[in-house]
Amino acid sequence: MTRISPLARPAIADIKPYEPGKPIAEVRREYELTDVIKLASNENPLGPSPMAVKAIQAALPEIHRYPDGGGYYLKQKLSERLSVSPSQIVIGNGSAEIVELITEAFVGEGDEAVIGRQAWFKYRIAVQIMNGVIAWADMPNLAHDTREMLAGITDRTKVLFVANPNNPTGTLMKKDEVELLMARLPDHVVAIFDEAYYDYQDKSVYSDTKRYVMEGRNVIILRTFSKSYGLAALRIGYAITTEPIARAMNGVREAFNVSSLAQAAAIAALDDEEFLRKVISLNEEGKLYFYRQLEGLGLEYTPTYTNFVLIKVPMPGRELFAELLKKGVVIRPVDGYGLRDYIRVSIGLPGENSRFFAALEEVLVERGMLSGM
Ligand SMILES: Cc1ncc(COP(=O)(O)O)c(C=O)c1O
Repeated sequence: MTRISPLARPAIADIKPYEPGKPIAEVRREYELTDVIKLASNENPLGPSPMAVKAIQAALPEIHRYPDGGGYYLKQKLSERLSVSPSQIVIGNGSAEIVELITEAFVGEGDEAVIGRQAWFKYRIAVQIMNGVIAWADMPNLAHDTREMLAGITDRTKVLFVANPNNPTGTLMKKDEVELLMARLPDHVVAIFDEAYYDYQDKSVYSDTKRYVMEGRNVIILRTFSKSYGLAALRIGYAITTEPIARAMNGVREAFNVSSLAQAAAIAALDDEEFLRKVISLNEEGKLYFYRQLEGLGLEYTPTYTNFVLIKVPMPGRELFAELLKKGVVIRPVDGYGLRDYIRVSIGLPGENSRFFAALEEVLVERGMLSGM
């Protein structure tokens, strides 16, 4: 690997880079395979919302213009949907960018951030870029734990991140736990609830985090169009927060951070209720299929509130990942999160799911970890 420039800030040189899901084209090339499936990035197996695709086509002739930096129409639409003011919404180049807007706005050198040990990687990197200090909170049962997180707060804490539900574990911080967290959260800390998988779960288990925003608490909710709406490549997400916090985030935001095509697609996707219903029901069916298959194989898994499943496997997850790659199935090792004996698998189309399980069984049989098929 090329060495990083010695002129780079030390904070940057120390960052352990994120390992993204392997692209299908790369696996085809490296393994000389034609038929490759990717269940590695929690993408939407049904593709994009067809209404979004139409809206992008309609917007194409205008791409010589800069986008609307204020995201007027999208914010208008979201504000009606969510019953918040447009000035409480910040749009971003994916919710990943919004995480950086938050740390740029709130975390200075030596400031602290509370992050769960197995929480989505992006919080760690964004804090490290700012030379912030991470207070790692243990996650018993691989779920964010209110008491552990509260125990990590000091006078220097600026932000506390809860991925709800979390990636890569699929676990949810339940209503009463969120309420307890918010009851004890001091006013000098901004709590971020990253709800990237919001649409995939039964809302009755979900805490109404918007209520805290409406009460003027220091809360930021993150949502994305990358998952349930199938717009991952366009990079668009948004935050719901208080006006003063939105002002701080907009202060560090690049003026044209979200493309016109992404904005047009997101506006149209919000109206595509039929697509959203299909996505959710396909995911529910896929999830139950995963559970049945895993129980049949005697493998432990973490019940999920998302479109992926964390599976405990009887060999190092990275080795299993390599074996599955050879069979044209791309999944995700999660040893970077300290989860050596696990893999994370996105729920795909029925044919993709069954292909994954066939390949998994083959590997386990080859390794003598399952008695023959
Ligand atoms: C918890 C969580 N938040 C945010 C995102 C990223 O979303 P976006 O594509 O909007 O940057 C992901 C994507 O995997 C995620 O798992």
